[in-house]
Amino acid sequence: MIHPLSLWVVWVVFFLPAFALDIQVNASFSVSQVCHVLGRTIEPVYWPGSKHYDADIKHFLPSSTQNATCSVEPKSTRDVATVLEVIGVARTPFAVKGVGHTSNVGFSSTTGVQIAMSHFKNISYDAKTQVVTVGAGVTWDEVYAVVNPLGRNVAGARAPGVGVAGFTLGGGVNYLQNEVGLTLDTVVGFTVVLPTGLVKEVTENDHDLWFALRGGLNQFGIVTEFKFKTFPQGQIWTVELDVPGESVDEFNAAVADFFETSTDPKATAIVQYRYFNSSLQLETTLFYNAPTPPKGLFDKMLAIPNASGTPATRNFTDILALGTPAVSGSRFTFDDTEVVQLSRSLLDAIANETVVVGQAVEDTSAQLIMFMIWQNNVQDYLSHGSSSAWPPSRSFETSINGWSLWLDESDDDAILANLQSGGDRLGAYAQSLGQDLSKTSLYPNISPKNTPVEAIYGSNLGRLKQIKKKYDPAGVMCLTGGFKIC
Ligand SMILES: Cc1cc2nc3c(=O)[nH]c(=O)nc-3n(C[C@H](O)[C@H](O)[C@H](O)COP(=O)(O)OP(=O)(O)OC[C@H]3O[C@@H](n4cnc5c(N)ncnc54)[C@H](O)[C@@H]3O)c2cc1C
Ligand SMILES: *[C@@H]1O[C@H](CO)[C@@H](O)[C@H](O)[C@H]1NC(C)=O
Ligand SMILES: *[C@@H]1O[C@H](CO)[C@@H](O)[C@H](O)[C@H]1NC(C)=O
Ligand SMILES: *[C@@H]1O[C@H](CO)[C@@H](O)[C@H](O)[C@H]1NC(C)=O
Ligand SMILES: *[C@@H]1O[C@H](CO)[C@@H](O)[C@H](O)[C@H]1NC(C)=O
Ligand SMILES: *[C@@H]1O[C@H](CO)[C@@H](O)[C@H](O)[C@H]1NC(C)=O
Ligand SMILES: *[C@@H]1O[C@H](CO)[C@@H](O)[C@H](O)[C@H]1NC(C)=O
Ligand SMILES: *[C@@H]1O[C@H](CO)[C@@H](O)[C@H](O)[C@H]1NC(C)=O
Repeated sequence: MIHPLSLWVVWVVFFLPAFALDIQVNASFSVSQVCHVLGRTIEPVYWPGSKHYDADIKHFLPSSTQNATCSVEPKSTRDVATVLEVIGVARTPFAVKGVGHTSNVGFSSTTGVQIAMSHFKNISYDAKTQVVTVGAGVTWDEVYAVVNPLGRNVAGARAPGVGVAGFTLGGGVNYLQNEVGLTLDTVVGFTVVLPTGLVKEVTENDHDLWFALRGGLNQFGIVTEFKFKTFPQGQIWTVELDVPGESVDEFNAAVADFFETSTDPKATAIVQYRYFNSSLQLETTLFYNAPTPPKGLFDKMLAIPNASGTPATRNFTDILALGTPAVSGSRFTFDDTEVVQLSRSLLDAIANETVVVGQAVEDTSAQLIMFMIWQNNVQDYLSHGSSSAWPPSRSFETSINGWSLWLDESDDDAILANLQSGGDRLGAYAQSLGQDLSKTSLYPNISPKNTPVEAIYGSNLGRLKQIKKKYDPAGVMCLTGGFKIC
């Protein structure tokens, strides 16, 4: 539903003839005046103190939460279009939240108008096309619960509770990616409300938007629905091995051997180096997408001295629980360093840096410093999809994913700076080993908000800016936080 719209004014009366409002919205409206207008157009709006408001601004990480002036819960694409139209004319800061797992404050939180996608809860599986249609307010667990009992799966999050929307629009690292690619490579369609209010079904035939939405996060409109390919899913062999820091040499030898030699796309090892309780602790989750792994594949890992953990064959739903973060806390950041090979000496450097960074923040409220890696030597894992906003190059690259959890807001800057210095030293070390990192790009879903957009979108930035000009001429999506290509 589109209405004639000048860039300067919008007559809200167009939307609700039955309760004609004669309010002419303009750029001098305060946020709370805009909230009142929204309350009379898409009604209701929610104010601080109400249960809906609390749910709408809530994030998995308290450090990603802000107190919005008001919140709205659109129920249809038309509602979404109305909200974009009003806030676009009033130039009101806003945020759109899928489920709220972002690690960056201001990305799906705001002090302006909070849009919560909580009514977009549709999940429907089409047995004929084997495609599942999923609303923007759904978590991956909810999708697994629908498709897993049918013997099907989607390439979604490796931990419980994560949202489909932000995860997919930013990339999507998943257990099946060596077989099927990033989550954004498993999308077959989007329903998006464009910043102009136009509702569009986007498929690979829509050259520019297809490219821009996959990796472009919230910069091209508000996606209300996703269509994903599904894949057959049987029982999976896994084990979570906990290893004391004392075994780091044997651990790194086994992990390096696996990462360098395993080219089996069904195999994954998620490896964590943690500085916790003033000591180095190691963990790896081994995953094989069949009831039994080939003989010998994980033998070196299973022989790491003092490792605890018992292999088992189970269903995907049960495995999801293994991704639950080991420690909880109120403030959190991710960081990313991308490299092109995980060699033994680089793993040694990661273990060292875990301790160096951990000790550097020992006097702060930090509870955990961690570096996580997950990509074995499947060189073509990024070759499963057509070109997309992210990653700008489909050559092999893989993440060293920094994490920190802490308690006091006053430590935010120091902890992020230390974690990023550790990541920078690891990148420099990889280069000193001869790695060419010139084509690598940082993964937006785990990059802190101070990451320059050039480091994410690289050579795609020019094209993205052009597409942005065409589909968001008034810069409506520039009123929300995130990695801005405005
Ligand atoms: C415990 C935990 C586990 C994780 N596991 C994984 C993992 O296995 N693999 C992986 O790749 N990442 C993982 N992540 C990172 C994850 O990809 C991001 O946190 C992602 O942002 C989550 O999506 P969301 O919808 O919950 O986020 P939100 O916080 O709701 O949104 C994130 C961004 O997307 C935008 N957005 C949300 N909905 C829409 C929409 N409908 N239209 C347009 N823009 C929208 C928001 O504005 C915001 O900028 C994990 C994070 C956590 C905290
Ligand atoms: C904006 O709207 C307000 C309230 O209706 C009005 O008082 C003001 O004159 C308008 N400003 C402009 C620039 O149109
Ligand atoms: C939000 O408001 C509540 C209640 O007034 C307050 O306790 C909290 O600190 C505020 N949070 C932020 C992030 O400003
Ligand atoms: C959910 O799906 C039904 C049936 O396809 C459709 O009528 C309805 O509009 C959808 N709701 C949302 C919020 O997308
Ligand atoms: C997964 O296995 C558990 C038992 O471990 C069972 O309760 C559950 O129903 C299974 N789920 C699916 C989708 O097969
Ligand atoms: C921390 O380490 C101390 C000794 O090094 C140990 O006694 C304690 O149980 C550990 N705490 C946790 C939560 O692991
Ligand atoms: C490792 O195992 C050996 C023998 O099984 C034991 O003596 C040693 O204490 C263990 N070390 C740790 C750190 O658990
Ligand atoms: C890691 O630290 C150990 C002990 O301090 C040192 O001998 C080794 O050279 C370091 N390795 C790397 C790759 O930094």
